Amino acid sequence: MKPIQVGLLGIGTVGSGTFHVLQRNQEEIRRRAGRGIEITMVADLDVARARSVVGDQVQVVNDARAVIANPDIDIVIELIGGYGVAKSLVLEAIAAGKHVVTANKALLAVHGTEIFAAASAKGVMVAFEAAVAGGIPIIKALREGLTANAIQWIAGIINGTTNFILSEMRDKGLDFDVVLKEAQRLGYAEADPTFDIEGVDAAHKATLMSAIAFGIPVQFDKAYVEGITKLSAADIRYAEQLGYRIKLLGITKRAANGIELRVHPALVPAKRLIANVEGAMNAVMVQGDAVGTTLYYGKGAGSEPTASAVIADLVDIARLHTADAAQRVPHLAFQPDEMSDAPV
Ligand code: HSE
Repeated sequence: MKPIQVGLLGIGTVGSGTFHVLQRNQEEIRRRAGRGIEITMVADLDVARARSVVGDQVQVVNDARAVIANPDIDIVIELIGGYGVAKSLVLEAIAAGKHVVTANKALLAVHGTEIFAAASAKGVMVAFEAAVAGGIPIIKALREGLTANAIQWIAGIINGTTNFILSEMRDKGLDFDVVLKEAQRLGYAEADPTFDIEGVDAAHKATLMSAIAFGIPVQFDKAYVEGITKLSAADIRYAEQLGYRIKLLGITKRAANGIELRVHPALVPAKRLIANVEGAMNAVMVQGDAVGTTLYYGKGAGSEPTASAVIADLVDIARLHTADAAQRVPHLAFQPDEMSDAPV
């Protein structure tokens, strides 16, 4: 079967990570997906930057619509971010019959109902594992592994930038602004870091998890959102002295009169696992009626962790297109002619 062809819109931190991981692990990914996955076209306003990442073998353009118009492209990855042009491009890609993979939590939290309806009408997928908690496969956990459960609540550290800031302020006594600059340098923070520090980014992610867990429309406008900008170094110190850590938590839970959806700093007892999630790491706890409490931990931001989630979605879509039904379900990824590699 010929490789599935992917067009990439925006080749910054996550886009270049996606390109490199796909290249590096090409063979494993091909086996697991049942066919090859190739980025064959990239659109970026900075053509020279894009060319420096992908070399000469990939077509590079500065017009995203040229990618969407290309009939050979099966999947469009949207890594532009924001609500404006990204929304038009995602809707145009869907209208053109392309599957879409995106890390754009802001777009989906605000316009998800419209976008998912368009995708459903057209019979294409909009996949967004990378939009929530970076490399942690929490969307797949909610949709697949925990699908038998009535979810009771989800609570987590789902913004790496703010967790990094709180950790560095506590451990090194550094100033807020200094640590924020470092988070930007490391590629954790959003283009507009206000979204991180005001809790908006975490609320976008909590909104998406809430919609999946409770089967409700995406309703970011209903979320209570409070960030970390009002916290001082003294707050962090006092919490420590009392045996607590301050963490920015995203919480959604089933309550008597509806679904709660909120993001705010919380005092977490220092001995709890989640209190010890440091730096840009994320952790999400999910309570289901059958499974009990589960915990997912990993890198919530950064180039290759987020690329790992983008590629997981590419593989899911490639499997949909694989003729062999057995291979649509992820299981062992060997081919019979490779049995000689099996352990003896
Ligand atoms: N700015 C986000 C964060 C990036 O810090 O978690 C990953 O979504």
